[in-house]
Amino acid sequence: MKALILSGGKGTRLRPITYTSVKQLVPVANKPVLFRVIEAVRDAGISDVGIIVGDTAPEIQAAVGDGSRWGVKITYVRQEAPLGLAHAVKVAQDYLREEPFVMFLGDNVIQGGIERLVKQFSQNTWNAQIVLKHVEDPRAFGVAEIRDGRIVGLEEKPRVPKSNYALVGIYMFDHHIFEAVNAIKPSWRNELEITDAIQYLVEKGYKVYPYVHEGWWIDTGKMEDLLEANRLLLEELTPQIAGFVDSASEVNGKVWIEEGAEIINSVIRGPAAIGRESRIVNSYIGPFTSIYHHTTIEASEVEHSIILENCQIIDIPQRIENSLIGRSVEVKRSPIKPKAIKLVLGDHSKVGIL
Ligand code: DAU
Repeated sequence: MKALILSGGKGTRLRPITYTSVKQLVPVANKPVLFRVIEAVRDAGISDVGIIVGDTAPEIQAAVGDGSRWGVKITYVRQEAPLGLAHAVKVAQDYLREEPFVMFLGDNVIQGGIERLVKQFSQNTWNAQIVLKHVEDPRAFGVAEIRDGRIVGLEEKPRVPKSNYALVGIYMFDHHIFEAVNAIKPSWRNELEITDAIQYLVEKGYKVYPYVHEGWWIDTGKMEDLLEANRLLLEELTPQIAGFVDSASEVNGKVWIEEGAEIINSVIRGPAAIGRESRIVNSYIGPFTSIYHHTTIEASEVEHSIILENCQIIDIPQRIENSLIGRSVEVKRSPIKPKAIKLVLGDHSKVGIL
């Protein structure tokens, strides 16, 4: 069994972060989403892993390397443009060959991993098994119809969904999927849709079965979803204090403080994660906050936020909440008059001021 992780695409909904950083590498609970996907695949016993990469290949390769850190062998497969999930399967055909594989979208986070799914698919002679999640409103996703325990129809982002079963972004396939991806035509958004390829399998009488996922699942395409994934993952953290906490500080709840981090005269109220070499001084870090590595928070309050590496947040009079702050950002109080807000923001930045 092999794995194909999709990490191409543009990530426009996460601008401006994705101007300078790959969306699959944004950390949630201080670990990039893509690393979590690799770990889920590895924990299911798969060590031969292909990663689809596009324009952001250099950054992904620099971060992930050859996979030895996780005990897996990574092969990068170049997709010249994000022409759809089924197109990604097409370009990976030489890598995948005849072997069954799990396809996992590199921006999805699920609770509990994929071990059971992989086991179930290996024990059966099905051609495809599709992970679904019962959701209130599935219109933003692929939607599957189930009858007599089998998938009988699929639609991509339908206006009027025929069921509440959303496609999670994790799929098991055998080699018949190549027949499908080579037969289908691009959709209205000019992409080769994996839902159309699965629909093809259904219509040709291949065995396509659902796997209904019971835990939580987040597609981290938008900022609110990233914050939600961050919240859920922080709640599952095993507390650990590997950094330094001085006697004037108070740390309570589930808190993860990495090596080299320093907490000085501050309150950390978990669930929260403080990355290595970060410094929290005279500050308050509230629940559901992840501070990545080498960031300094001084005389400020932060809650329900993700702050990336090498930032400096110093002497801010109001609490920072529900925020996603990119790499090497400085937010500082300025002593120079007039009393005004001074901003240097990239395209598509968002600032909320009361
Ligand atoms: O998240 C689940 C949904 O993912 C499913 O319900 C949909 O059926 C499925 O089409 C997909 O929809 P999205 O619109 O969310 O897909 P997105 O364009 O965000 O791409 C998902 C991942 O795959 C992302 O990590 C980028 C990568 N990708 C995407 C395309 C279109 C590629 O590597 N190559 C591509 O050509």
